[in-house]
Amino acid sequence: MLSPYETAVAAQRRPALEHADGPLDLRELVRLATLAASSHNTQPWRFRLGAAAIAVVPDFERRCPVVDPDDAHLFRSLGCAAENLVQAAAAQGHAATVHFDAPEQCLTVRFEPSAGLGPTPLSRALVHRQCTRRPFDGRPIAADAGALLEQAGTVGRARTRLIDSPALRDTIIDYVRAGDVAQLTDSAFRRELIHWLRLNDAEALATGDGLAARTSGQPSLPRWLARPLLRFVLTGQGQADTDTANIRSSPLLAAVLAADDSPAAWVDAGRAYERLALQATALGIRSAFINQPVEVPSLREPLRRALGLAGETAQLLLRLGHGPVAPYSLRRPVEAVIEVDA
Ligand SMILES: Cc1cc2nc3c(=O)[nH]c(=O)nc-3n(C[C@H](O)[C@H](O)[C@H](O)COP(=O)(O)O)c2cc1C
Repeated sequence: MLSPYETAVAAQRRPALEHADGPLDLRELVRLATLAASSHNTQPWRFRLGAAAIAVVPDFERRCPVVDPDDAHLFRSLGCAAENLVQAAAAQGHAATVHFDAPEQCLTVRFEPSAGLGPTPLSRALVHRQCTRRPFDGRPIAADAGALLEQAGTVGRARTRLIDSPALRDTIIDYVRAGDVAQLTDSAFRRELIHWLRLNDAEALATGDGLAARTSGQPSLPRWLARPLLRFVLTGQGQADTDTANIRSSPLLAAVLAADDSPAAWVDAGRAYERLALQATALGIRSAFINQPVEVPSLREPLRRALGLAGETAQLLLRLGHGPVAPYSLRRPVEAVIEVDA
């Protein structure tokens, strides 16, 4: 029998609606958009429904001012959601275009019927994509997957670069470790992270957001027990060792790069990640983020140099590999994030 948590996941992740001709189901598009990745699973978005368009607007009440003071991750998360709208629309026979209005800080996705468009491997992966925060099994990634992943992870100002050099992987491990220690010895970072931790199923179900214990392999414990344990579980050194093992188990790393570091570039980087992750999912490849060297300001320049970037910036870092599906994270209900256009 399914637990309440698993029942909620199954309902939220029912297969995407597919039809070749007929009106767009905008609420269905929003459901699939909310399944996108977001930093700390904050889901910092609202969706404004128009006639044949959906505006994706930031919900600044869901900011993470410590880890994300300039809102770069927040706009990357909006890019992820917008890309899910694009892919979900294809499954309903519609082409979509994404426009980012920087002064308004708003993304608009417009839809039009397009003969010949229909479900794709990416649209079918929407309900299956996840960040798999587990060691992978070390099996290599098929050589012909690389081109598909790079192609999917390229959109607008952003592109994906795959990393299989052992030397570069070792350097990235060093930076992730340094990032773990910097973050988890910073009391403001810890406070913010703990605010978004959902220590047991009941907490995760109550909010529908945040980082549920299950998703990172932790037991679901009552708060009175789990909260004091965090002092021992959540340490820089411990996280550094976990991340080292996780990265070493991953046959491939990937960096999402962008032409600059503007809000438009953040949005495109989010879109690129989402496409890359959907393509990976479609190929049976799992992925997880290792963004510490992007998040800790003092590590950005060393990372940029290690990647040999001239003008481009590193936006997101990932590891890829094979392994079982981990428990899925939850989302808030569609009604909580929809605004109907006046
Ligand atoms: C911009 C961005 C940054 C993220 N950074 C990290 C990270 O550094 N480490 C991590 O484990 N997950 C990271 N995540 C993943 C989120 O925690 C994850 O998307 C969220 O918990 C929802 O889970 P799901 O993607 O499995 O559906 C990031 C996601 C986004 C969109």
